[in-house]
Amino acid sequence: MGSTQPEFNNPATTTLLELVKARRTYYGLKAESPISDEAIERIVQDAVLHVPSSFNTQTSRVVLLLKEEHQKLWDIAINIMESLVAAGKVPKEMFENHTKPKLNAFRAGYGTVLFFVDYDSLAAIKEQFAIYADKFDPFALESNAMSQYLVWAALCSEGFGANLQHYSPLIDEQVQKTWNIPASWKLDAQLVFGTPTSEPSEKTFQPIEDRYKVFGK
Ligand SMILES: Cc1cc2nc3c(=O)[nH]c(=O)nc-3n(C[C@H](O)[C@H](O)[C@H](O)COP(=O)(O)O)c2cc1C
Repeated sequence: MGSTQPEFNNPATTTLLELVKARRTYYGLKAESPISDEAIERIVQDAVLHVPSSFNTQTSRVVLLLKEEHQKLWDIAINIMESLVAAGKVPKEMFENHTKPKLNAFRAGYGTVLFFVDYDSLAAIKEQFAIYADKFDPFALESNAMSQYLVWAALCSEGFGANLQHYSPLIDEQVQKTWNIPASWKLDAQLVFGTPTSEPSEKTFQPIEDRYKVFGK
């Protein structure tokens, strides 16, 4: 399946799909950027503005941390993990051999995009559309994930490598304090990026036939 190339009206569609394939998880990163900070901001701002949300509720919030501010984030994570080790809640050996090297690898990158969801901003619409009330929170998270994906793909398109992390709720309080984040912004994910120093690992795929059906072709 998919061995012959279909014709698209717009050559940009082929490019888009190539970019989809080029987005991978890169763990080996260094603190260099192939593009200007303004270009990074443009990617992030366009994602915030143009990624859709249910009922156009616009629930995603994003903070871009570059260079020293990015390092500060991963120092926060390292310090918290160290305090857990000191409290006997995380085995020292696991921290030293696995967690710390991993966190230092994130710290070695150029920046981190913090993705938040402002669930509180949904209060009015939940009342207005009571029948959907329990759907709005998951919709908000889905919309946030779309932003994460777009920024990830766009950064890879510009020569960055990136990986997606989830250190919430561990780091939430410190993040909120350090960057004066509104209390209603709930952290979901951290997208770490930098110039790649290693290739992504090999990726395997389940047969497309097991995951996809078409009818009416
Ligand atoms: C919703 C979601 C959550 C993920 N969470 C993490 C994570 O917490 N830590 C991590 O290292 N990778 C995380 N990943 C990355 C996946 O492991 C990775 O995307 C997957 O193995 C496919 O590899 P690829 O990104 O190179 O295509 C996450 C990916 C998705 C889509």
